[in-house]
Amino acid sequence: MGRLTAPDTADAGTPARGWLDAPLESGSAAGFGVYLHVPFCHHRCGYCDFATEAVGGLADDDRDALLRRYVAALERDLATQAATVGERAVTSVFVGGGTPTLLPPDLLARVVGLVGRELDVAADVELTVECNPETADVDRFAVLADAGVDRVSMGAQSFDAGVLAVLERRHRPRRTAEAVALARAAGIPRVSLDLIYGTPGEDAAAWRDSLAAVLALGVDHVSAYALGVHANTPLGRAVAAGTVPAPDDDVQRERFDDLRQLLRGAGFVHYELANLARTDALRSRHNVLYWRHGDYLGVGVGAHGHHDGRRWWTTRSTARYLAALEQDVADGGVARDASGRVRDVTEEERLDDEARALERLLLGLRLAEGLHPRDVPPIAREALESAVADGLVTTACGRLQATADGWFLLDEAVRRLTA
Ligand SMILES: C[S@@+](CC[C@H](N)C(=O)[O-])C[C@H]1O[C@@H](n2cnc3c(N)ncnc32)[C@H](O)[C@@H]1O
Repeated sequence: MGRLTAPDTADAGTPARGWLDAPLESGSAAGFGVYLHVPFCHHRCGYCDFATEAVGGLADDDRDALLRRYVAALERDLATQAATVGERAVTSVFVGGGTPTLLPPDLLARVVGLVGRELDVAADVELTVECNPETADVDRFAVLADAGVDRVSMGAQSFDAGVLAVLERRHRPRRTAEAVALARAAGIPRVSLDLIYGTPGEDAAAWRDSLAAVLALGVDHVSAYALGVHANTPLGRAVAAGTVPAPDDDVQRERFDDLRQLLRGAGFVHYELANLARTDALRSRHNVLYWRHGDYLGVGVGAHGHHDGRRWWTTRSTARYLAALEQDVADGGVARDASGRVRDVTEEERLDDEARALERLLLGLRLAEGLHPRDVPPIAREALESAVADGLVTTACGRLQATADGWFLLDEAVRRLTA
């Protein structure tokens, strides 16, 4: 095992606690982000467990009215949270969903400009908007480019028509290439594609073809997720009923290895478990902020925030969220707690040192850079040595880092380290 630079209390005759007893740093060095959630989609894909709401079946006027109410609520939500953060400049904004590009252009412009109206924003702020190929059009991309959006993150998922059908995606493979071209033509400098691997029916060739298609498009960044099956989704119910096979762990591992081999072979940096960038500079700053346990506001339905030693999350119900925010206005703003969060629809917890340390370990191991010894919770020497010996983590660079095996078995790696 490599030598660690941090003090090893075992050498001083104290219990074999490992290499940290120093206090954890705050996450402030990682930057300060804002996540804005737009829950609406035309339809809900069968695998999706996000806080989303299908509005494709609504009459146009009803849909428009709902979207307008939601954006007004989002504005009020952010304005109240912004009042609690002082002068801190925002270094990254991520507008996710759902499908933000489902919003009509005027509402999309309001949402994208929201943070700049309410908070100080760093000159080099990263501003990302999630979109999917079927709703991304010239008008939307023009709005995003005008608002200074420098990244779009597009839900490609696969370039195989059969896999897209199993995932209940409505776009055809070539639509993703068209949407990437539209984003670039509008002047958006950075494009990231989301991919899902291990979908039942996806063979190795289909996955490799998808990766080749991504490389051919020359995008800057790729987020690739193993298909997760959630019990409360149509896919989860089909798997439970045996009508769709569950994703196979060994197959997912092969897909993960192909992902690494093909993309790293093309020069990509695999900087986080599910994220690869063409260069270090093209990593998603917002993404890195999450895994470095940084501070961020979470605004909107189902959004999570982490700031000032607190973690909070908002209801996943759009109806409850709207009712609370609209009631709040009627009451003159009294339905809020001392932290500025909306009462009744937001829950929060304050992390004690131990919870914070554990969370930092779980998050930090997702990053290739891993964690500095001072930032991890006390780890028993034997536990660390056995996790290193089994190839789950390495300490070779003086930092605690997951190996590729450790990434794939992250829960197991953390369980072993904290046993
Ligand atoms: C919030 S979703 C993206 C929404 C976007 N409107 C879209 O679908 O294109 C973010 C990404 O999470 C991934 N994702 C969502 N559900 C997943 C699941 N059950 N398993 C694996 N990846 C999932 C997809 O790659 C998706 O693009």
